[in-house]
Amino acid sequence: MKIQDSELTSYNFAVSLNSVSKTFGTGDTQVKALKDIELNVRCGELLLLVGPSGCGKTTLLSVMAGILDSDDGVVDVFGVRVDKLSQTKKTSFRRQYIGFIFQQFNLIPTLTAAENVAVPLLIIKTPYAKAVKKAREYLSMVGLSERTEFFPTQLSGGQQQRVAIARALVSEPRLIVCDEPTASLDGDTGKLVMEMFRRTALSKDRAIVVVTHDNRIFSYGDRIAEMLDGRIIAVHTDHQQMM
Ligand SMILES: Nc1ncnc2c1ncn2[C@@H]1O[C@H](COP(=O)(O)OP(=O)(O)OP(=O)(O)O)[C@@H](O)[C@H]1O
Ligand SMILES: [Mg+2]
Repeated sequence: MKIQDSELTSYNFAVSLNSVSKTFGTGDTQVKALKDIELNVRCGELLLLVGPSGCGKTTLLSVMAGILDSDDGVVDVFGVRVDKLSQTKKTSFRRQYIGFIFQQFNLIPTLTAAENVAVPLLIIKTPYAKAVKKAREYLSMVGLSERTEFFPTQLSGGQQQRVAIARALVSEPRLIVCDEPTASLDGDTGKLVMEMFRRTALSKDRAIVVVTHDNRIFSYGDRIAEMLDGRIIAVHTDHQQMM
Protein backbone atom coordinates (compact mmCIF):
# COMPACT_ATOMS: atom_id res chain seq x y z
CA MET A 1 0.00 0.00 0.00
CA LYS A 2 1.76 3.14 -1.24
CA ILE A 3 1.46 6.53 0.43
CA GLN A 4 -0.14 8.67 -2.30
CA ASP A 5 1.13 12.17 -3.01
CA SER A 6 -2.39 13.45 -2.29
CA GLU A 7 -1.92 12.30 1.30
CA LEU A 8 1.05 14.62 1.78
CA THR A 9 0.09 17.92 3.31
CA SER A 10 2.38 20.90 2.86
CA TYR A 11 5.41 20.94 5.11
CA ASN A 12 7.96 23.47 6.29
CA PHE A 13 10.35 20.97 7.80
CA ALA A 14 11.66 17.53 6.88
CA VAL A 15 10.83 16.39 10.42
CA SER A 16 8.77 18.27 12.96
CA LEU A 17 8.38 16.87 16.47
CA ASN A 18 6.07 18.57 18.98
CA SER A 19 5.67 17.50 22.61
CA VAL A 20 6.80 13.97 21.77
CA SER A 21 7.11 11.64 24.72
CA LYS A 22 7.88 7.96 25.18
CA THR A 23 7.94 5.88 28.35
CA PHE A 24 9.19 2.31 28.59
CA GLY A 25 7.92 -0.11 31.25
CA THR A 26 5.81 0.52 34.33
CA GLY A 27 6.31 0.93 38.09
CA ASP A 28 9.84 0.68 39.46
CA THR A 29 11.35 -0.10 36.07
CA GLN A 30 9.64 2.77 34.27
CA VAL A 31 11.96 4.88 32.09
CA LYS A 32 10.86 8.19 30.56
CA ALA A 33 13.06 7.98 27.48
CA LEU A 34 11.60 11.04 25.70
CA LYS A 35 10.12 14.00 27.54
CA ASP A 36 8.23 16.68 25.57
CA ILE A 37 10.62 16.69 22.66
CA GLU A 38 10.45 19.74 20.40
CA LEU A 39 12.67 19.48 17.34
CA ASN A 40 12.56 20.54 13.70
CA VAL A 41 14.88 19.09 11.09
CA ARG A 42 15.12 21.45 8.15
CA CYS A 43 14.78 20.39 4.53
CA GLY A 44 18.22 19.87 3.01
CA GLU A 45 19.86 19.67 6.43
CA LEU A 46 22.31 17.23 7.98
CA LEU A 47 21.52 17.43 11.70
CA LEU A 48 23.80 15.82 14.26
CA LEU A 49 22.33 14.51 17.52
CA VAL A 50 24.62 14.20 20.54
CA GLY A 51 24.23 13.34 24.21
CA PRO A 52 25.36 10.86 26.87
CA SER A 53 24.60 7.15 26.75
CA GLY A 54 20.98 6.43 27.72
CA CYS A 55 19.71 9.98 27.08
CA GLY A 56 17.23 8.80 24.41
CA LYS A 57 19.01 9.26 21.07
CA THR A 58 18.15 5.85 19.57
CA THR A 59 14.59 6.13 20.88
CA LEU A 60 14.22 9.51 19.18
CA LEU A 61 15.56 8.22 15.84
CA SER A 62 13.24 5.20 16.03
CA VAL A 63 10.20 7.41 16.63
CA MET A 64 11.18 9.71 13.75
CA ALA A 65 11.57 6.72 11.45
CA GLY A 66 8.22 5.18 12.41
CA ILE A 67 9.93 2.11 13.92
CA LEU A 68 8.71 2.87 17.44
CA ASP A 69 5.39 4.47 18.42
CA SER A 70 5.54 7.54 20.65
CA ASP A 71 3.05 7.81 23.52
CA ASP A 72 2.12 11.43 22.87
CA GLY A 73 2.83 14.34 20.59
CA VAL A 74 3.11 15.11 16.90
CA VAL A 75 5.57 13.26 14.65
CA ASP A 76 5.47 14.88 11.20
CA VAL A 77 7.84 13.70 8.47
CA PHE A 78 7.59 15.57 5.16
CA GLY A 79 4.00 16.46 5.98
CA VAL A 80 3.00 12.89 6.92
CA ARG A 81 1.60 12.55 10.44
CA VAL A 82 3.52 9.37 11.25
CA ASP A 83 1.91 9.14 14.69
CA LYS A 84 -1.53 8.86 13.04
CA LEU A 85 -0.70 6.16 10.47
CA SER A 86 -2.00 2.61 10.81
CA GLN A 87 0.74 -0.03 11.21
CA THR A 88 0.34 -1.10 7.55
CA LYS A 89 0.66 2.45 6.28
CA LYS A 90 3.57 3.08 8.61
CA THR A 91 5.41 0.14 7.10
CA SER A 92 4.82 1.50 3.58
CA PHE A 93 5.88 4.93 4.71
CA ARG A 94 9.17 3.56 6.06
CA ARG A 95 9.89 1.66 2.86
CA GLN A 96 9.21 4.71 0.70
CA TYR A 97 10.78 7.46 2.75
CA ILE A 98 13.26 6.24 5.35
CA GLY A 99 16.75 4.79 5.39
CA PHE A 100 17.81 3.62 8.86
CA ILE A 101 21.36 2.76 9.86
CA PHE A 102 21.09 0.89 13.15
CA GLN A 103 23.57 1.02 16.01
CA GLN A 104 23.83 -2.77 15.64
CA PHE A 105 24.18 -3.19 11.90
CA ASN A 106 21.35 -5.77 11.57
CA LEU A 107 22.78 -7.44 8.47
CA ILE A 108 21.21 -10.73 7.41
CA PRO A 109 23.92 -13.38 7.98
CA THR A 110 22.80 -15.72 5.18
CA LEU A 111 22.93 -13.03 2.49
CA THR A 112 26.04 -11.63 0.80
CA ALA A 113 26.98 -7.97 1.18
CA ALA A 114 25.41 -7.18 -2.22
CA GLU A 115 22.21 -9.05 -1.35
CA ASN A 116 21.98 -7.29 2.03
CA VAL A 117 22.26 -3.91 0.32
CA ALA A 118 19.68 -4.98 -2.29
CA VAL A 119 17.04 -5.87 0.34
CA PRO A 120 15.29 -2.45 0.43
CA LEU A 121 15.00 -2.55 -3.37
CA LEU A 122 13.75 -6.15 -3.44
CA ILE A 123 11.07 -5.26 -0.87
CA ILE A 124 9.71 -2.61 -3.23
CA LYS A 125 9.69 -5.24 -6.00
CA THR A 126 12.76 -4.18 -7.98
CA PRO A 127 13.85 -7.12 -10.20
CA TYR A 128 16.68 -9.10 -8.55
CA ALA A 129 19.39 -8.46 -11.18
CA LYS A 130 18.71 -4.71 -11.23
CA ALA A 131 18.63 -4.52 -7.41
CA VAL A 132 21.93 -6.35 -7.01
CA LYS A 133 23.57 -4.22 -9.72
CA LYS A 134 22.57 -1.05 -7.90
CA ALA A 135 23.64 -2.57 -4.59
CA ARG A 136 27.12 -3.22 -6.03
CA GLU A 137 27.34 0.41 -7.16
CA TYR A 138 26.55 1.61 -3.63
CA LEU A 139 29.04 -0.84 -2.11
CA SER A 140 31.64 0.56 -4.43
CA MET A 141 30.83 4.10 -3.20
CA VAL A 142 31.65 3.02 0.36
CA GLY A 143 34.91 1.40 -0.79
CA LEU A 144 33.73 -2.24 -0.77
CA SER A 145 33.76 -3.18 -4.47
CA GLU A 146 36.10 -6.08 -3.62
CA ARG A 147 33.78 -7.48 -0.95
CA THR A 148 30.35 -7.61 -2.63
CA GLU A 149 30.10 -11.42 -2.51
CA PHE A 150 31.32 -11.78 1.10
CA PHE A 151 28.96 -12.76 3.91
CA PRO A 152 28.73 -10.51 7.00
CA THR A 153 30.84 -12.88 9.15
CA GLN A 154 33.64 -12.56 6.59
CA LEU A 155 33.73 -8.78 7.02
CA SER A 156 35.33 -6.59 9.69
CA GLY A 157 33.13 -4.43 11.94
CA GLY A 158 33.91 -1.32 9.91
CA GLN A 159 33.16 -3.14 6.65
CA GLN A 160 29.82 -4.40 8.03
CA GLN A 161 29.00 -0.86 9.03
CA ARG A 162 29.70 0.34 5.50
CA VAL A 163 27.39 -2.38 4.12
CA ALA A 164 24.68 -1.07 6.47
CA ILE A 165 25.33 2.47 5.21
CA ALA A 166 25.07 1.36 1.56
CA ARG A 167 21.81 -0.47 2.41
CA ALA A 168 20.31 2.71 3.91
CA LEU A 169 21.24 4.82 0.88
CA VAL A 170 20.42 2.43 -1.98
CA SER A 171 16.70 3.20 -2.18
CA GLU A 172 17.43 6.95 -2.15
CA PRO A 173 15.17 7.65 0.83
CA ARG A 174 14.14 11.22 1.64
CA LEU A 175 15.02 10.88 5.31
CA ILE A 176 18.10 9.00 6.46
CA VAL A 177 18.55 8.40 10.17
CA CYS A 178 21.87 6.95 11.34
CA ASP A 179 22.83 5.71 14.75
CA GLU A 180 26.60 6.15 15.22
CA PRO A 181 27.51 5.57 11.56
CA THR A 182 31.22 6.15 12.14
CA ALA A 183 31.64 4.26 15.43
CA SER A 184 33.53 1.32 13.86
CA LEU A 185 35.29 3.35 11.21
CA ASP A 186 38.75 4.88 11.29
CA GLY A 187 38.96 8.67 10.99
CA ASP A 188 39.51 8.81 7.22
CA THR A 189 36.75 6.31 6.42
CA GLY A 190 34.37 8.12 8.78
CA LYS A 191 35.00 11.38 6.93
CA LEU A 192 34.56 9.64 3.58
CA VAL A 193 31.17 8.34 4.70
CA MET A 194 30.05 11.77 5.91
CA GLU A 195 31.19 13.34 2.63
CA MET A 196 29.23 10.69 0.76
CA PHE A 197 26.13 11.43 2.86
CA ARG A 198 26.34 15.09 1.98
CA ARG A 199 27.09 14.46 -1.70
CA THR A 200 24.62 11.68 -2.49
CA ALA A 201 21.81 11.95 0.04
CA LEU A 202 21.11 15.65 0.53
CA SER A 203 18.93 17.94 -1.56
CA LYS A 204 16.19 20.42 -0.72
CA ASP A 205 13.60 17.69 -0.23
CA ARG A 206 15.81 15.30 1.72
CA ALA A 207 17.40 15.35 5.18
CA ILE A 208 19.79 13.32 7.32
CA VAL A 209 19.92 12.90 11.09
CA VAL A 210 23.08 11.39 12.53
CA VAL A 211 23.65 10.33 16.14
CA THR A 212 27.30 10.57 17.02
CA HIS A 213 29.85 10.79 19.80
CA ASP A 214 32.56 11.41 17.23
CA ASN A 215 33.72 15.03 17.27
CA ARG A 216 35.87 14.36 14.19
CA ILE A 217 32.69 14.52 12.11
CA PHE A 218 31.03 17.53 13.78
CA SER A 219 32.06 19.82 10.91
CA TYR A 220 29.85 17.80 8.50
CA GLY A 221 26.69 18.79 10.39
CA ASP A 222 24.67 21.92 9.65
CA ARG A 223 23.48 22.03 13.28
CA ILE A 224 23.99 19.91 16.38
CA ALA A 225 21.05 19.06 18.65
CA GLU A 226 22.10 18.18 22.18
CA MET A 227 20.06 15.75 24.27
CA LEU A 228 20.14 15.14 28.00
CA ASP A 229 17.89 12.85 30.00
CA GLY A 230 15.10 12.58 27.42
CA ARG A 231 15.08 16.24 26.37
CA ILE A 232 16.62 18.40 23.65
CA ILE A 233 18.51 20.96 25.74
CA ALA A 234 20.15 22.98 22.96
CA VAL A 235 20.55 23.23 19.20
CA HIS A 236 23.97 24.55 18.26
CA THR A 237 24.99 26.31 15.09
CA ASP A 238 28.37 27.38 16.46
CA HIS A 239 29.63 23.80 16.62
CA GLN A 240 32.96 24.49 14.92
CA GLN A 241 33.92 25.59 18.46
CA MET A 242 32.79 22.24 19.93
CA MET A 243 35.45 20.27 18.04
N1 LIG B 1 12.87 -1.42 24.82
C1 LIG B 1 13.18 -0.78 25.94
N2 LIG B 1 12.63 -1.16 27.12
C2 LIG B 1 12.92 -0.50 28.28
N3 LIG B 1 13.73 0.57 28.36
C3 LIG B 1 14.31 0.98 27.22
C4 LIG B 1 14.07 0.34 25.97
N4 LIG B 1 14.78 0.99 25.01
C5 LIG B 1 15.44 1.97 25.65
N5 LIG B 1 15.15 1.99 26.97
C6 LIG B 1 15.66 2.95 27.97
O1 LIG B 1 15.42 4.26 27.47
C7 LIG B 1 16.54 5.10 27.71
C8 LIG B 1 17.03 5.69 26.41
O2 LIG B 1 17.58 4.65 25.61
P1 LIG B 1 18.25 4.91 24.22
O3 LIG B 1 18.61 3.60 23.64
O4 LIG B 1 17.37 5.79 23.41
O5 LIG B 1 19.57 5.74 24.64
P2 LIG B 1 20.79 6.27 23.75
O6 LIG B 1 20.89 7.74 23.97
O7 LIG B 1 20.61 5.81 22.36
O8 LIG B 1 22.04 5.57 24.43
P3 LIG B 1 23.43 5.00 23.76
O9 LIG B 1 24.27 6.22 23.47
O10 LIG B 1 24.00 4.17 24.84
O11 LIG B 1 23.07 4.22 22.55
C9 LIG B 1 17.58 4.25 28.43
O12 LIG B 1 17.54 4.55 29.79
C10 LIG B 1 17.15 2.82 28.16
O13 LIG B 1 17.44 2.00 29.25
MG1 LIG C 1 21.66 4.45 21.16
